[in-house]
This record gives sequence, structure tokens and C-alpha cells, in this order.
Amino acid sequence: MKRTVLVTGGAGFIGSNFVLMLAAQRPDWNIVNLDALTYAGNLENLKSLEGRPSHVFVHGDITRPEDVNRAFDAAKRFGGPVSVVHFAAESHVDRSILSGLPFVQTNVVGTQILLDASRAVGVERFVHVSTDEVYGSLGATGFFTEDTPIQSNSPYSSSKAASDLLVRAAIHTHHFPACITRCSNNYGPYQFPEKLIPLMIANASEDKSLPVYGDGMNVRDWLYVVDHCEAILAVLEKGRLGEVYNIGGHNEHPNIFIVKRILAGLGKPESLIHYVKDRPGHDRRYAIDAGKIERELGWRPRYSFEQALPLTIRWYQENSDWLARVRNGAYRAYYASQYAAR
Ligand code: NAD
Ligand code: TYD
Repeated sequence: MKRTVLVTGGAGFIGSNFVLMLAAQRPDWNIVNLDALTYAGNLENLKSLEGRPSHVFVHGDITRPEDVNRAFDAAKRFGGPVSVVHFAAESHVDRSILSGLPFVQTNVVGTQILLDASRAVGVERFVHVSTDEVYGSLGATGFFTEDTPIQSNSPYSSSKAASDLLVRAAIHTHHFPACITRCSNNYGPYQFPEKLIPLMIANASEDKSLPVYGDGMNVRDWLYVVDHCEAILAVLEKGRLGEVYNIGGHNEHPNIFIVKRILAGLGKPESLIHYVKDRPGHDRRYAIDAGKIERELGWRPRYSFEQALPLTIRWYQENSDWLARVRNGAYRAYYASQYAAR
């Protein structure tokens, strides 16, 4: 079926991977891409779509109703039903520790504005892209299921949890046709080099030190971004309305293991590793039980970590110009504020 999808945050890491995947796998669909182009948004990611009439970029902010309406007007011009996939967010925990307010503005207020506009338009379906971090932190055993209580710990995860609850309220109160996805940590092309994997690849490539927080034994459950995008597409096409779907690949590793694998992949010495002061409130372990999406929608990750980490390292090596351009003055100022005193 031909569809029009309004993607928010489609110039960011996961959003741009999703837009590129849709353009390749659903070439008859129309895409309207609403993005404020914050430090994390980069139109260069979408260069291959330039001149394609079925992809319309709208430069706008989800906290401004007039910008959201402009995006819906562009979607309506294609005719037919409109669905929404909502990625736009402030997404980095360390930044949320420095200042929580932008997270409340975009993640909470922006989501409510998008929900209100989506209801007014009568969207066919709304996929809210959330995170496993809303469940808080696990001990040494166990997994997050969709029934795990929300116990978010950082300003980032708490703002995402608030947005999840606003989507839930729209579903419950207004019979709004939405699904919520909660995925574990992603890695892959176009990830901004403030997150663990691209930051370590970028630093190691330049023989700079690799700042590992605390004892390096915090565990994350890593999923290749292409697998996450395919899961979101499955929820968009087949998810049961009103449901939450966890997404993850049973690929848990302590941070120090990841860092050493990156060093080995680049042929760099472990002497580059520097243990630094821990992140305040650092969640110890995330691990996802993705049984529900596997059983109901038949989704499974296609990439193993052994395949996809080398692909990711190679992508950053082959796109060193992209990396140099995103690591501009603003990024360097952030890096100094984050790491100088550690
Ligand atoms: P990102 O920071 O790379 O990209 C966010 C995008 O949203 C950017 O293009 C930015 O310009 C845009 N944006 C920010 N504020 C906006 C606003 N007010 N209006 C319009 N656009 C705005 O983030 P990401 O890593 O691609 O994450 C995308 C979504 O997936 C987020 O909602 C995040 O919570 C969720 N998520 C991320 C991960 C991960 O590992 N990165 C894992 C699970 C869930
Ligand atoms: P990050 O990529 O920021 O994702 P999140 O905090 O949302 O899980 O961090 C992943 C893990 O890596 C987390 O346990 C914090 C750790 N980390 C470091 O040890 N050093 C770093 O420089 C960064 C950015 C993260």
C-alpha cells in the first residue's frame, strides 16, 4: 500500500538511517522529514535523496505548532493517509546531566505538540520511538520486558519516560492509534561522535585517549541501527495499536569489552584507555527481552555484533570527512566541558 510517512528527527542518527532504508525498501512511499537540525541533525546524511520528489525536508521544530502544521500540510499534499514515526529528541545522557531543560522542551513538550497535531489531522498510525532506558537499571541478572515498571534515572530517560506516558494517555483517553517502541543502545553509520562507539573510534583513530567511565563494567545491549530500523518498520506496518514493543539483540557487553574490540579493530594499543570519573547516576546494566516483537511481528536482528562492529569501524574510516565536519567548533566546546575536569 502506498503511504505517506511524516518522520521527525530524520536528519539524526537513527532517523536518517530509517529514511534511507524506507527510500530503498518502500520506494513508492512518500516521506516528509521534519527536523530542527540541532547539533545532532545533519542533512549531509540524506545527500543521496537530493532531488527525489518523494522525500520532502521541512526545517522545523516540534516544539513550534506552526512548524508541525507546516510538515503535516506537506504530507497532505501527497494525498492519502499519513502515518508518523517520531524520532526527534534530545538523546544524550551526558548532555542531560549538564542541562535538563532542553530535554523537557523537545522530548516532553514537543511530543505533546506532535500528538495534538496528529490527532487533529487524524493520522492513520503513530510510532513513538523510545528507549529501554525508561526502565531504569538492572542488576546482574534479568531482562527488561514490556511489563517492567518505568523507573528512569537520568534527565534524558525521565524525559523519554514522560513522553511515553503522554503517548499512553493519548491511546487510553482518545483511542489514538499509536505504538511505542523501546530499543537498546544502537551503533552504526551516522552516529554523532559523543556516544560511546563513535567517540572511541574517532579518538583511537587519532591516537587520543579513550575516556572510560568508572570501572568500565557497565553493561549495554548493543543493536546495529539497521536492525532497529527494520523493527520500527515492522511495528509501523504490523504492530498492534496501543502496544509497547521492546527491541534488542541479546548482545550484552561491558563497556571495556567494546572499547578493547574497537582498539583491536583499528590496530591501536590498549594503553590509549583512560579510566575517568564516573557519570553521576550511571545506570549499571541494560538488557532487553525482545520476545514479544519476535513472536508477534516475526522480527529478528539480521546482524551479529561480530559482523556489524567491523562494518561500523570501516564506515567511520571511509567517512573521515563526515566525521571531521560534524566535529566542528560546537562539538569541541562540548567535549571540553564534558571531559576537561575528568
Ligand atoms: P540523535 O540525537 O542522533 O538525533 C535526533 C534528531 O532529532 C536530530 O536530527 C535533531 O536535529 C532532531 N531534533 C532534536 N530536537 C528537535 C526538535 N525540537 N524538533 C525537531 N527535530 C529535533 O538521536 P538518535 O540517536 O538518532 O535517536 C533517535 C530517537 O531514538 C530518539 O528519540 C532516542 O530517544 C531514541 N533511541 C535512541 C537510541 C540510541 O542508541 N541512539 C536507542 C533507543 C532509542
Ligand atoms: P552512551 O553511548 O552515552 O549511551 P547511554 O548512556 O545512553 O547508554 O554510553 C554508553 C555507555 O558507555 C555508558 O555506560 C556510558 C559509557 N561511556 C564511557 O565510558 N565513556 C564515554 O566517553 C561515553 C560517551 C560513554
